Amino acid sequence: MAFPIVRHRRLRQSAAMRSMVRETVLTANDFIYPIYVKYGTNIKEEISSMPGVYRFSLDLLEQEIREITSLGIPSIMLFGLPDHKDAEGTSAYDPNGIVQEATRLIKKWAPELVVMADTCLCQFTDHGHCGMVHQDEVTGTAVVDNDPSLSLLVRTAVSQAEAGADVIAPSNMMDGFVAAIREGLDEAGFSHVPILSYSVKYASAFYGPFRDAAKSTPQFGDRKTYQMDPANAREALREADSDVTEGADMLMVKPALSYLDIVRQLRENFDLPIVAYNVSGEYAMVKAAAANGWIDERAIVLEKLISMKRAGADLIITYHAKDASRWLRGE
Ligand code: PBG
Repeated sequence: MAFPIVRHRRLRQSAAMRSMVRETVLTANDFIYPIYVKYGTNIKEEISSMPGVYRFSLDLLEQEIREITSLGIPSIMLFGLPDHKDAEGTSAYDPNGIVQEATRLIKKWAPELVVMADTCLCQFTDHGHCGMVHQDEVTGTAVVDNDPSLSLLVRTAVSQAEAGADVIAPSNMMDGFVAAIREGLDEAGFSHVPILSYSVKYASAFYGPFRDAAKSTPQFGDRKTYQMDPANAREALREADSDVTEGADMLMVKPALSYLDIVRQLRENFDLPIVAYNVSGEYAMVKAAAANGWIDERAIVLEKLISMKRAGADLIITYHAKDASRWLRGE
């Protein structure tokens, strides 16, 4: 009888053997945990479509921050819910805005925690778009005023850096935002603050729960004239390329799960750290199925997170970060 020449199973026969030949390793150090902050006192409200994720008032935030650092998670991404919205998103660049206040406090409680600030206007504008817009009278679509939006985004980024943000993470998808923010940060004395660009951000239905959480649903039109068409991959390389030219320090692909091919392509084409954003809808799907007892949440979460690293991500922004960190410790 002819024996198989190659036996793949030899290296799979024990847990120790599998562990030795494992190509990708996931650790808490890979995670960035998103946090939603709002004004008020004594608020810790669960987001209904994202069980286990809360909006915090600043007085209840310290305990959450302590938990995150004790789990070994090195970084957070801050999202703010202002109490005032207007056409130009002025609360986004208010020196005493919610993100700025939260940043100052967090840096006091946990100086070593890397605080990333999401730089966008959509939570702060009354129309819910990521830049300044006007509505086309005939078609009803949202027309983005790209270049005037840049100066507002620069003001936002500088105010976040002034408050102590360690990384500026612009998610607005205006053209030229990385160059504008880099110049603005440099001029304001923040040449040392890196930019994590949401370089490749698709116009995705997977952001649905986030928009509930952050109350940032566009009031008219959609984001398709600035976020990318899910059908496009070559365009992702052009987006990433321009951000690298404009001075981005890290590149993001968002969402993650349906776009692992894009993560891989960025990995192969660029040497900058690649960040995958495991977005709200991806989290909600897993939580809903787990709540029904249809899947093994722990196994599914660790499998999907390792798939993002295997695809080429160096870091993962994920709402599962706290649970996953516990599971990776064997808890
Ligand atoms: C702001 C922003 C969004 C997300 C992160 N920053 C929403 C959007 O573009 O509509 C989504 C995050 C998530 O779904 O978890 N522009």
